[in-house]
Amino acid sequence: MTQVSSLYLHVPFCQHLCNYCDFYKKPLDSQRDQFLEYQDFLKNSVSQHEKFLLQNNFSWAPLETVYLGGGTPSLWGKNGAEFFAKELCSIPLKDDAEFTMEVDPGTWTEEMLSAWQEVGLNRISVGTQSLNPEFLKILDRIHSLNDSLYFLKFLQKNQWNYSLDFLLGVPFSHEKKRDIKQELDLLLDHSPKHISLYILNARSKYPHIQHIPDDDYISEEYLFVSEYLRSLGFHHYEVSNFALPGFESKHNQKYWNGQGVAALGPTGTGYLAINDNKATRYKWKVTKPEVEIEELGPTELLLEKTYLSLRTSLGLKITPERYPLYLDWIKKNYATEDNGFIKLNSSGFLILDSLMKDLL
Ligand SMILES: C[S@@+](CC[C@H](N)C(=O)[O-])C[C@H]1O[C@@H](n2cnc3c(N)ncnc32)[C@H](O)[C@@H]1O
Ligand code: SF4
Repeated sequence: MTQVSSLYLHVPFCQHLCNYCDFYKKPLDSQRDQFLEYQDFLKNSVSQHEKFLLQNNFSWAPLETVYLGGGTPSLWGKNGAEFFAKELCSIPLKDDAEFTMEVDPGTWTEEMLSAWQEVGLNRISVGTQSLNPEFLKILDRIHSLNDSLYFLKFLQKNQWNYSLDFLLGVPFSHEKKRDIKQELDLLLDHSPKHISLYILNARSKYPHIQHIPDDDYISEEYLFVSEYLRSLGFHHYEVSNFALPGFESKHNQKYWNGQGVAALGPTGTGYLAINDNKATRYKWKVTKPEVEIEELGPTELLLEKTYLSLRTSLGLKITPERYPLYLDWIKKNYATEDNGFIKLNSSGFLILDSLMKDLL
């Protein structure tokens, strides 16, 4: 039996649906208790999931990482912690497990956080996105700057381990001269140890599509933030992630290193790494507690491993037949060679997709 020691749980509810968001979520409806329906879905999923793991010759090991993402998992509240303890906690947590919840500013209470802490929560990912009221509005966020500052002060005062989400490529940034450094300084005043930096991915129907800054502007923003954070001791350890030493996300590293992560909740996607040549990916349907399965063979796994290795600062093992291409990347200052590995720098991360095309 192979063991899996990480769990992702998708909690698909939000108070308001931000107009740029690509993730599966539903607005909370005051007329229905959607969390009760959701809990029923999870209860049914748990038994299916156990069978599925067994069929694939997998069993649980004590959990090293748990990640509650969404949606806005913090809206599940204290009841969520009780449900998690009763229905999902049959697998013990390791003493040093990392247990993260995504929390939007303005969607938490101390009581809710304490209840989750009792279940094991010890890391929070805060959806700050921008620290400028004008851009929060453009981004269609319902939280205010004060909601963010109040929450960050609370987390700092209570010595929480927390990460911040920050968006680049925000519409009207160019026209309104978004001051990224001023926003970052405001974040950094609260001593975050981890920052996730996402470039807004806008679909063609996005209402502000005409006002998305151009690629050169976004590249400049990304490289500026990377250089600034690195000058302050942050390590750019993955395309979209920066951490002070020792504060890298253990959960996300499991994905990037091709290790197994089990999943529950609608659209929650799990990955069972069977061996170097075989893996199973499964995704929960949204209508019923059933999974869609994708089997990965040697070709798919090699492709994924290549892509994921290049995403992180650990880099990709150099093979002689590709060496001339890597030398070209080094000459163009996209990468460095280190102990048999090719490692992209921030300029390389920025054009990862095009480097991947060259490689293929
Ligand atoms: C799915 S959200 C869940 C957490 C939380 N509800 C929030 O809004 O921060 C996780 C992260 O994905 C980011 N995200 C959502 N849609 C995105 C998009 N179209 N492009 C880039 N990032 C996006 C959010 O901004 C957030 O930082
Ligand atoms: S709150 Fe987060 S998950 Fe919900 S719609 Fe906005 S970005 Fe998406």
